[in-house]
Amino acid sequence: MRKKLIAANWKMHKTPREAAAFVHDFIPLISRHDRDEIAILPPFISLSPTIDALRGTGIAVGAQNMHWQKEGAFTGEISAAMLIAIGCQQVIIGHSERRQYFGETDIEVNRKLRSALQGKLKAIVCIGESFQERESGLTERVLSRQVAATLGQICCADVENFCLAYEPLWAIGTGKAATPEMAAETHSFIRQEAARTLGDPAAARLRILYGGSVKPESATALISKEEIDGALVGSASLDPESFARIVKW
Ligand code: PGA
Repeated sequence: MRKKLIAANWKMHKTPREAAAFVHDFIPLISRHDRDEIAILPPFISLSPTIDALRGTGIAVGAQNMHWQKEGAFTGEISAAMLIAIGCQQVIIGHSERRQYFGETDIEVNRKLRSALQGKLKAIVCIGESFQERESGLTERVLSRQVAATLGQICCADVENFCLAYEPLWAIGTGKAATPEMAAETHSFIRQEAARTLGDPAAARLRILYGGSVKPESATALISKEEIDGALVGSASLDPESFARIVKW
């Protein structure tokens, strides 16, 4: 019922030339694999070359951040309207690296999500607990807060236009993915929390991706779980062969 989404978060990697070279090598590797949706999320300057290189493939391109205002005196920022204008279809919001290094708050994450949806940009909103929070038994409390804050004033009719990505901080870039069972159990909890705001029917349609050290070796066990609606892949998405193996989980 929920189509899976496999998304590549390139973070601060790949110049325009490197992005185009990736697409050149990647496309032949995934021909005839149209089971899931695929999205690639390069840094801002590599968006246009990636969009050009992927034209006609059905693979979506998105940004890794945006500002919630349409335009204005916000030096260094990019709006949803600007992303749409160059052909972007997606955006990542509230990645833990943005929260950790750039002080992004739950309130900003919610503003960005509302602005993305208003601008007809699909969003991948990241949530997740830290190692200390999991160790102290606070995982559910943290996720519950993040889900409630993220979904404030979001209309259930928009549920097909965004997904949540559960990315436990202790799994990002560490090589230690959550076990499929742990991830699936946490996804069920997140869906239950989302239902408080969106209602049960909409929450049942909400896609919840898993992210954090997804590798070709771990992809199948994770993504094949019914509760896991796809993956947000960081370092293993930088190499065309590795990302193609994940797409073909
Ligand atoms: P990773 O990153 O796959 O390198 O752990 C995932 C992410 O941060 O989205």
